[in-house]
Amino acid sequence: MNTPRCRLAVFASGRGSNFKALAERCQEPDFSCIVACLVTDDPSAPAIAVANAFQIPVHVIDAGPRRGRLRAGAEAEIVSYCRERGVQLIVLAGFMRILEGDVLTAFAGRVMNIHPSLLPGFKGLNAQRQAFDYGVKLAGCTVHFVDASLDGGPIILQAAVAVNDGDDEDSLRAKILSEEHRIVARAADLFARGKLRVEGRRVLGTEN
Ligand code: GRF
Repeated sequence: MNTPRCRLAVFASGRGSNFKALAERCQEPDFSCIVACLVTDDPSAPAIAVANAFQIPVHVIDAGPRRGRLRAGAEAEIVSYCRERGVQLIVLAGFMRILEGDVLTAFAGRVMNIHPSLLPGFKGLNAQRQAFDYGVKLAGCTVHFVDASLDGGPIILQAAVAVNDGDDEDSLRAKILSEEHRIVARAADLFARGKLRVEGRRVLGTEN
C-alpha cells in the first residue's frame, strides 16, 4: 500500500474478539489501517493477550472505581497516550466506560463504537438478550460514530441477522458477533479511505 495507513486505537474491556478481528485484517498488506495500540481499563482483560499475540502496545488506564465511568483526568491521559501513538481513529469494541469529555473533544468525529443491536433499538447493556426476549425476527449490530449520547451517534453501518425458531440467546449472540467482526473492519476501512461524510444524522459514502 502506498498511502500511509490509518492508525487505530482499539478500546476494549473484555474478551477482545472485535479487536482480534481488526488486528487480523490489519495484517493484510493492502488493508487501509493498522492497530497502533490497545487501550483498556481492566488489567485482567483477555484482550491484552490478543494484543501481545499481535505485538500491539497496550495502555492500561487507571480508570477509577466508578462503574461505567472514568475518574477525572483519565480521559486527558488517554488523549495524550493516543497522540503519542499517532492515533487517527478510535474504535470502541466492548469498552465498558462512558467517554464524556476530553477524548470526544480531541478526537471529534474520529471515535466509533460497535454495538450488538440494530440501533436505535436495544441500547445499553445486554442488547442481544433484550432483542431475543423482545421476540424480534431480525436482530443485528451497528457501527456508529460516538457522541455524548448513549449509543446514539450517527450510524455508519448495520448488519442484520435472522432470529430463527431454533435460536437461543447464545446462538443469536454468536451470529451477531460474526457480523460485528465484519462491519467493524469495514467501517474502519471506509473511514481510512476518506469515504465517510456526515450530514446531520446521516453518514454517507458507505456503499463503495
Ligand atoms: C461486542 O458484542 C460489542 O458489540 C459490544 O461488546 C462486545 C465486545 O465483545 N460493544 P468483544 O470483546 O469484542 O469480543
